[in-house]
Amino acid sequence: MEYLKRTVTCGELAVADAGKSVVLNGWIHRHRDHGGITFLNLRDRYGVTQVVIDADASAGLKATAAELKFEYCVAISGRVRARPDAMVNRDMGTGAIEVVAEGIQILSRCETLPFMIDEKSDAKEDLRLTHRYLDLRSFSMQRKLRLRHEVAFAVREHLAGKGFFEIETPTFIKSTPEGARDYLVPSRLYPGKFYALPQSPQLYKQILMVSGFDKYFQLARCYRDEDARGDRQPEFTQIDIEMSFVKRDDILALVEGLMGHVFRKTLGLDLPPTFRRIAYDDSMELYGNDKPDLRFGMEMSDIGSFALRSTFQAFKEAIAAGGAVKALVVKGKADYSRKQIEELEASAKIFKAKGLAWMKVGAEGRLEGGASKFFAGEGIDSTLATDLLGALGAGPGDLILMVADGKRKVANQGLGAVRSKLGRDLGFCDPACFEFAWIVDFPMFEYNEDEKRWEAAHHMFTMPQEKYHSTLESDPGAVKGDLYDLVLNGFELASGSIRIHDPELQKRIFSIVGFDAKDAETKFGFLTEAFKYGPPPHGGIAPGLDRLVMLMAGETSIKEVIAFPKNSFAVGPMDDSPNFVDAKQLEDLHIRIVEKKE
Ligand code: AMO
Repeated sequence: MEYLKRTVTCGELAVADAGKSVVLNGWIHRHRDHGGITFLNLRDRYGVTQVVIDADASAGLKATAAELKFEYCVAISGRVRARPDAMVNRDMGTGAIEVVAEGIQILSRCETLPFMIDEKSDAKEDLRLTHRYLDLRSFSMQRKLRLRHEVAFAVREHLAGKGFFEIETPTFIKSTPEGARDYLVPSRLYPGKFYALPQSPQLYKQILMVSGFDKYFQLARCYRDEDARGDRQPEFTQIDIEMSFVKRDDILALVEGLMGHVFRKTLGLDLPPTFRRIAYDDSMELYGNDKPDLRFGMEMSDIGSFALRSTFQAFKEAIAAGGAVKALVVKGKADYSRKQIEELEASAKIFKAKGLAWMKVGAEGRLEGGASKFFAGEGIDSTLATDLLGALGAGPGDLILMVADGKRKVANQGLGAVRSKLGRDLGFCDPACFEFAWIVDFPMFEYNEDEKRWEAAHHMFTMPQEKYHSTLESDPGAVKGDLYDLVLNGFELASGSIRIHDPELQKRIFSIVGFDAKDAETKFGFLTEAFKYGPPPHGGIAPGLDRLVMLMAGETSIKEVIAFPKNSFAVGPMDDSPNFVDAKQLEDLHIRIVEKKE
């Protein structure tokens, strides 16, 4: 039998439609019986419409209505009726009307649901992912995927309007060095050879600059075999951008304009026209990381000079070892319990801090408890406590937290982790508030203690800032790159850099990170070859689309804004990937599975 095709969606009928004959298609969201009258809530992507099977409906209609269960897919024909005033549901888009059913057609039935299609569902994540099609029926998931679509659309609209071309780059490439492990695709035609899935289109977009496409972008799928985290997936999407004949500030301005357009178009929010810029070193000193959450202050201070006047031996030793003593003030939290402080300490220890020292400011403005005995009392400089409180801006009722370490980075990162936890615990992280910032002047190289060698902090194609060009080899640790990250609410949203277009300079960078000419030739010979033919000065950036939409949707995991994400173990619970393949497929690919010997 032909099915009754909808004439309207479940989200559009209003009082003005009263009297109209309509056909709705959708899923049974709710059904309840009120003494012979049946109410159905019919749902589709657009909303919910209440359908009534009146007491005087035909026996056949009533019998079909009685068969209906949750999530049956149905077609309902009927007449729109305005609800009496007392029955109007203002929480429902279509709450002023109902449809009096005249015919019901069951299009397909639904088995017992593994979980309810409900915003408040407490179903476990793996169950939701196994039946993702059901999970995606919920309004919250539909809202998030709609937002994702709108963001992607606004990105294309803005960049195309600025003269950018969207150009696809290949998915099967030669391994691109970006820091994570590659996903590999074995070649059937060339035994023993593999394609790699791109960790990003980095080299291809640089080559497009050589080709003269001076404004490129792509909503690019990227693949990285790295440990999962809330803001990481094995496959994800970047808004990949590259431009020629630009300097750093052109790229920052472009992205500020892009974010402004996206937020205005999708959330109706106006962002500031420019974002603040924070030097990497300052970010580490003030917030203890390079992706600070700027929705709250609670900046860290260096209290080394006060620690030297105290009697706290451990603090003095940290300074003598070349480290630092860092402190932050938690306003009005002198009543924090020992247990609460221990929980904060645990987050500092993740970053190798040895402990979290504390003291409280009492009602009279005196230091109390914890480490206070080292800062006030017998035999201690009598002005020390007041000087310290003055420098920290701390007063009665405040809690002071401190981390000291022989390594400045550990003190910063340890206390930074405490700051981040406090921000969350104290409710300072309003998801509806968006605090963007640029982190600039990153170090070019990081020293890998395990392998005793310098590594590129971002990637090897980043331009060192001009003033360091003569000291690259003699003092790699001091070199700052023409590198920038965009951060939003404590997440790294984007990374980019001005690239090297001078083959000689590129060779010097390869050599500092331990690639000799031959290594470089094997790994990225095609890039160096292309760069022999007049490469333009260029640079780019790649905001992560998943992270952007996640933050805009007020979520803390990118899985919430990806239709079919992998779980935390890189498994797709719905299709059960990865999985075994036929022996024949393996044979075609010249692959034999060998058990790993322990
Ligand atoms: P980078 O590696 O910093 O830079 O990545 C850029 C942005 O991509 C997002 N991102 C991820 N999102 C989800 N899951 C992941 N596993 C993941 N990894 C990265 C983040 C990150 O800021 N080619 C350079 C960019 C450039 O220099 O132009 C690059 O890929 O939002």
